[in-house]
This record gives sequence, C-alpha cells and structure tokens, in this order.
Amino acid sequence: MAAKNKNLKNQDAEDSVDYLTLLVASGLALGEVADTDELLKMLADTAMTMGNCEGCTVYEADGDVLRFKLTLNRVLEARGVKASLKNYTLPIDLKTAAGFVATSKKPLNINDVYNLPAGSPFSFNPSIDVMNNYRSKSMLVIPMCDSKGTVLGVLQLINHLSGESFTGEVTPFPSRVEGYLKALSSQCGVVLRNIKMADEIKQSRIETVKKFVKASEYHDTDTGGHIERMSRYSVLLYRELGFDEASCEVMRLAAMLHDVGKISTPDAVLKKPGRLTPDEFEIMKLHTVKGYEVLRDADSPFLQMGATIAYTHHEKWDGSGYPRGLKGTDIPAEGRVVALADVFDALCSRRVYKDAWPIDKVFDEIRNCSGSHFDPQIVEIFFDNLDEVLEIKTQFPATQPTTETSKPKPVETAQGEEEPKEIKRAS
Ligand SMILES: [Fe+2]
Ligand SMILES: [Fe+2]
Repeated sequence: MAAKNKNLKNQDAEDSVDYLTLLVASGLALGEVADTDELLKMLADTAMTMGNCEGCTVYEADGDVLRFKLTLNRVLEARGVKASLKNYTLPIDLKTAAGFVATSKKPLNINDVYNLPAGSPFSFNPSIDVMNNYRSKSMLVIPMCDSKGTVLGVLQLINHLSGESFTGEVTPFPSRVEGYLKALSSQCGVVLRNIKMADEIKQSRIETVKKFVKASEYHDTDTGGHIERMSRYSVLLYRELGFDEASCEVMRLAAMLHDVGKISTPDAVLKKPGRLTPDEFEIMKLHTVKGYEVLRDADSPFLQMGATIAYTHHEKWDGSGYPRGLKGTDIPAEGRVVALADVFDALCSRRVYKDAWPIDKVFDEIRNCSGSHFDPQIVEIFFDNLDEVLEIKTQFPATQPTTETSKPKPVETAQGEEEPKEIKRAS
C-alpha cells in the first residue's frame, strides 16, 4: 500500500513537471501572439491538452454578454460533426455556468452537469447535447481575467478523461488540473488585454489620421469617400506588388495623407471651377512639397511613408511629373502605387470642375497612361485585380462634392499640360 502511494506521488510529481513545462511553454508562445483569434485558438488547444478532456469552448466578454469564439470537441469531430455556434451569445448573469463564472470571477468544477447541486443558481441547457447525440458530464469553467481582475472571457472544458492522451472514462476534473488551467487562463487574459490595448492605440491612431485628413479636406472639394477608396486601392496594389501585411497596414494610413499639403493651397486655386493658369498650377504643385515638409521629421513608420507619398504621388513613370521629375523606379513604389490609386478614383468621381467619367473611359485612360504616367507593372496588377477594385468602388460609394457651383464646368487645358486635365487637377 505504501509502495502504491509512493508511486502515485511520483506520478503526481512527474505530472506536475509536465504541466509546468506546458504552462511555461504556452506562456512564452501566447506572449508572441498579436491576434485575438489566434490567441484564443492557442488557449483552447493548450487547455484541451492540459485538461485531458473531450471538449472546450472559449467565450469572449463583450459588454454584458459572453460572445462565443470557438469550440473544439474530439468526440464530435471524430463523428464528423462540426459544432457551429457562430453569433451565439450568453448574457453575463447567474443563469448559466459560463455567465455565473463571468459574474463571480470564480471557477466552477462540476462533476455532472445533469445532477447539479440543489439550490444551484444556474442550470444546464441540454439542447446542444440532444442535437448532437452527445452526453456532457464533468465541466470545468474558468474565468479569463486581466491583471486588474476584469473578466475578458470564459474558458469552459467538458468531460475530463481518466486515461492518458484523451483516453479512458469521463471523470471529474482533478483540482490540480483546475489550478494549472487557472494559471493558463490568467496568462491568456494578460496577453488578451495587451492585444486589446494595442488595437485601441491603433484605432485611435487611425482616427487621428482621419481627423487630420478631414481637416485638410474641409479646404478641398475632393470629398465623398475619396480617401477611403484610394487608401484601399493603394493597399490592394501594394500587397500584389509583393509587400507584406505589416507594410500594407502602414500603407493603409499613409496613403490617406497624400494630399495633406493642400491645407496650405489657397482656396482661390484649390476650389477654382475653371482652368488653372500656369502660375496657379505652380502653386497647386507645391502641395507635394508642403505635405512632405509637414510629415518628414516624424519617427513613426506611417508618417514617414506618408511623407514619401505626399512628395512623390505626382511623379510620373516617364519623368514628366512633379515636383522633382523623378523617373521609373527612382520614384518610390509607394508613390507609384498611390499615383494610380488616386487618379483612378479621381477620374471615377465627380469634382467641382468635372463630371465622373464612364468606367470604360477610365480604364482606357489608365491603359493609355501605362509607361508614361503609371508604372506598367502596377497597371498590370490593377487590371489583374479588377474584381477587387470594383468591389471597393461599390463598397464606398461617392457622395456629391460640396461646392457653390451646382454643375461642373468644362475645363480647358492649362498652358503646358499634355496629360488629361482631369488627372492633373483631380489627383
Ligand atoms: Fe495630390
Ligand atoms: Fe487624392
């Protein structure tokens, strides 16, 4: 008997080392994750291994509800049943086990969900069991809190197995497993909080850029969703050109800044419905340099990219653009991408000095300007991804420009302009 007890203790000690190893490894791995869905998937996988159980469900707290995020169940998966609980939510109250745990912030370790202790404030809903011909029995429900104790989610494990590696009979969850899963859930809660904070910072940065752009747009007539659309076209082209997702995310914001220099362009030039004189056009050109000067000293990658774009989005592949007359790949890829995205959207939109062009005419223009105005490779990418381009166009429809003139006037070519005046003015 004594020998048996000793063996059990040795087994416990070995198990403890395994659990701790898993806990440390998962803590390191979780810390590397920057995406909520990926984090919760990793949590579920690790919890299943640690809990040696048949199933696991993860909920994320969202206001006063728990929102279902994912569920895993080995038994149902082996039968080819895929649990679908998309858009499923539970109120955070005392009526369900998960709601109870989110409210009390304490774990629940239930031996049999069909035989809850008398007086239990929550009940078990058997409908999913019935639907899948499944029998839930033991359940371990753990709150996922951040370091301040705020509940961010709930981890729910079903049917602990007595054997090793997902074998054996369904038995209650041992208390030491509960302890390790609480530690795992806490690790996940801290990482989840960090991800949420990073998302909030990112979101506030986006808002700040949009406000900044809007402030410069008040001065301009190019309203009606131009910024949203051209930013998305730019990201699409930039991605297809081979840049990674992180760079595309920077592009998403940076592209919006292409015309911030227009804040210094006089209204008499910017809002002039008719043609620009050569002198006025020289003033208009300065928005590229002004935008660059405003943004160039910034440390953040997206403001640096914004400076590059502001400076180079009117350069042309053949060297006839401004302000520096750069040619070919001397023009940064960011400027070449935005040049096409910006002009395409400008031609498709009504402006104070022109009507929107029919889409076929716009496509002809883009094709005709390949190798002169635009990088031929980017024009090719544009036409290879036309479905996505048109989807963006539909998704963010244009509104009418704000102007005192009700109808656009025909524009004559300003002296010295060789390219379509709409491109020169509109972009
Ligand atoms: Fe511009
Ligand atoms: Fe623009």
